[in-house]
Amino acid sequence: MKNSNAETVRKLAAECTLFLKKDGSFPLDGPCSVALFGNGARQTVRGGTGSGDVYSKKVVSIDEGLRAAGFAVTTDYWLRRCALIRENARREWVARAKKQAKGISGYAGLMSMAVPEPEYDLGTDYPGDICIYVLSRQSGEGCDRKAERGDILLSETEVRDINALNARFERFMLVLNTGGPVDLSEVADAGNILQFSQLGPLSGDILADILLGKSIPSGKLATTWAAWGEYCSEGDFGDPEDTRYLEGIYVGYRYFDTVGKKPMFPFGYGLTYTDFSLGRPSVRVTGTEAAVSITVKNTGKYPGREVVQVYVSAPEGRLDQPCQALAAFAKTGVIEAGGSERVSLSFDMRDLASYDEDTASYILEAGDYIVLAGDSSADTKAAAVLELPETVTVLKAKNVLGNCGFRDWAPDVRLRPDPEGAKRIAVDPAAFTMETVCYELDEETGAFAESLSDEELCYVCIGDFSDKQFSIIGEASKTVAGAAGDFTTRLTGKGFPAVVTADGPAGLRLEREYYRDGKGLHNVNNDAITAFGEMLPDILFRILSRPKKIKPGTKIYEQNCTMLPAASAAAQSFDVSLAERLGRIAGEEMKEYGVDVWLAPALNIHRDIRCGRNFEYYSEDPLVSGKMAAAVVRGAQSAEGRRATIKHYAANNQETNRYSSNSLVSERAMRDIYLKGFGICVRESAPGAVMTSYNLLNGTHTASHSGLIRDILRCEFGFRGIVMTDWIVRMAMSGGKYELPLAWEVAAAGGDVLMPGSRRDYRTLLKGLRSGKVSRRQLEINATRMYSFAKRKKQ
Ligand code: BGC
Repeated sequence: MKNSNAETVRKLAAECTLFLKKDGSFPLDGPCSVALFGNGARQTVRGGTGSGDVYSKKVVSIDEGLRAAGFAVTTDYWLRRCALIRENARREWVARAKKQAKGISGYAGLMSMAVPEPEYDLGTDYPGDICIYVLSRQSGEGCDRKAERGDILLSETEVRDINALNARFERFMLVLNTGGPVDLSEVADAGNILQFSQLGPLSGDILADILLGKSIPSGKLATTWAAWGEYCSEGDFGDPEDTRYLEGIYVGYRYFDTVGKKPMFPFGYGLTYTDFSLGRPSVRVTGTEAAVSITVKNTGKYPGREVVQVYVSAPEGRLDQPCQALAAFAKTGVIEAGGSERVSLSFDMRDLASYDEDTASYILEAGDYIVLAGDSSADTKAAAVLELPETVTVLKAKNVLGNCGFRDWAPDVRLRPDPEGAKRIAVDPAAFTMETVCYELDEETGAFAESLSDEELCYVCIGDFSDKQFSIIGEASKTVAGAAGDFTTRLTGKGFPAVVTADGPAGLRLEREYYRDGKGLHNVNNDAITAFGEMLPDILFRILSRPKKIKPGTKIYEQNCTMLPAASAAAQSFDVSLAERLGRIAGEEMKEYGVDVWLAPALNIHRDIRCGRNFEYYSEDPLVSGKMAAAVVRGAQSAEGRRATIKHYAANNQETNRYSSNSLVSERAMRDIYLKGFGICVRESAPGAVMTSYNLLNGTHTASHSGLIRDILRCEFGFRGIVMTDWIVRMAMSGGKYELPLAWEVAAAGGDVLMPGSRRDYRTLLKGLRSGKVSRRQLEINATRMYSFAKRKKQ
């Protein structure tokens, strides 16, 4: 890592933060004495756990960052005691949980489990010019969050202390160091609440910069923050086998706005040090394109940036519609106090079309399309009414996603915005031409694949595996220490280059130190194991974390990758150029460390705030998710020969029983919500690869779902890259209702490579080929795609 990358993140990070509440007592004129409290003050959370983690060498907690900036922290005793109490509680909890864990899957389930926050009373009577309370939460792969105290709800200790401190200190700030929402209803009186998020290892420096006004929070919520009981509870969540997405399209603000519930902090909301006012928007329509422009004026005392949001309320006809849906957003540059900026945004009405299952097409129904502009979903004004005199079909497709077995829920009474005399603009239906998807794929096989034996063909379509060593994440790559896995290295002699894949999305997840010897590459610290290792059975942990016997004089190589803000934080910037810059950092470091394929970005929808991996994903809104992911892909792929992988395709919105949970989702909800961002991202950034997800969709594993892979991804979205599976590790199964997909099922559906690969998967594929379950031609097609992908890497 170049230090400058970490510094770039430090400079950009405040853009990803926002105030939920402010009373004008910040920023500060200079450092002062601070009464610092909260579980995140010393144990500041950099990001979530699991494959979305990045191992950092230098970590600056909030306590350290404030001290380094000249603040005098008055609560040393409290902070020490708090850390001790939490550490003891953690140890006891881990020991208890391990005793109760049954089988490998029981242990796997513990991997990212959040240790419940202990209750304690250490008093709050400490002096300080200001008071900062840092509240942290952490979650990760393999485990969902819980709507319990100490997780989504605040612990009793937190509620008591935050309220007491807010009442006692004139200048009090609650700093939220979380990857997703917590229920703030019990501390709603706090004068200042900063949604700081999880911004990587320099969090302490970043917060100091914000407090001193050196950098300015200018984000907006990309997901609704409500009291727990206010969220939509129509659908299932966390069911180990079948999870019905009964709420259909009413996800996030689409639910709140349509049923007329006011969440505590709505989607798109966020305050900064200064204040803004928005002028009267003007709207023009040319063909199918609507252009909106609006003046933003800085009416406060500080410089700042504002995010303008344009929503559209579509008319209801045969299809029910949410009250409004985001159609465009744009962030201003820095506007000085008293200054203003004219912002132009546009959207294509065709992108507003909804999927009609009855006619298997995307349609815009006749009626009034109310265009609204504002600075949050709850604060919008009608800018124009676009009148569409007749229903138009934008795209003729086909239903390919299977039967979910229910009709989506829809609210009985649905709110619609009042157009309040907004200008009416007639839209010419003739401007819309109907396109029809061609489902005939022009799939080629090339000389390379045709020349391979059956065995060789199977090697190409299975990730690289070693016969000698059980390949676990962190030690799976032969060429880059800590990378997640390689494509086959058995055919380099035949011209198939070695290709290395490494996780994200919070930067490159590689070992910090490694060495080489005659046997290959070895980790020094086993970062992946130490990150979650204490949850492993004791004996396994001891074996895996055994210090390496490294010969004196052995050269140790370092890999210092830059940890980026969590994706949920990056989305809050609402700034695609910032997202592209973050992607560029990952691309540069891929080049530096010899990684070819980045297993990021991840753009699953925040369907439920309990999803343990939401910090890796952007938003509850598909437009924000798609645009942000596209920007990150463009950034990463700007490094020559490097490719990004968008994941997890699709309907992967919970971690409970993640290998075999079956998401039951209607074709409309899939297309209008869960697939939409993937489509935007594919079209706007041409990612090199797509990773399918572990879960099933309507009874078929996404990894072997030809409707998802062939019909939608390749034929409808026009994807030209390779499709890989998520990391299917067969021993993680506990024999539940659904089996893992088989290698030949994946290949037959057009999935090009099953990752991370094992001899067992290889044998299954070969058997499938020999018994005619998958044709040789299909494998040649997949191998041809793999070959041209691998050849594009920079040698
Ligand atoms: C995760 C993926 C990740 C892969 C490789 C899987 O368990 O779901 O997001 O890319 O592991 O580490």
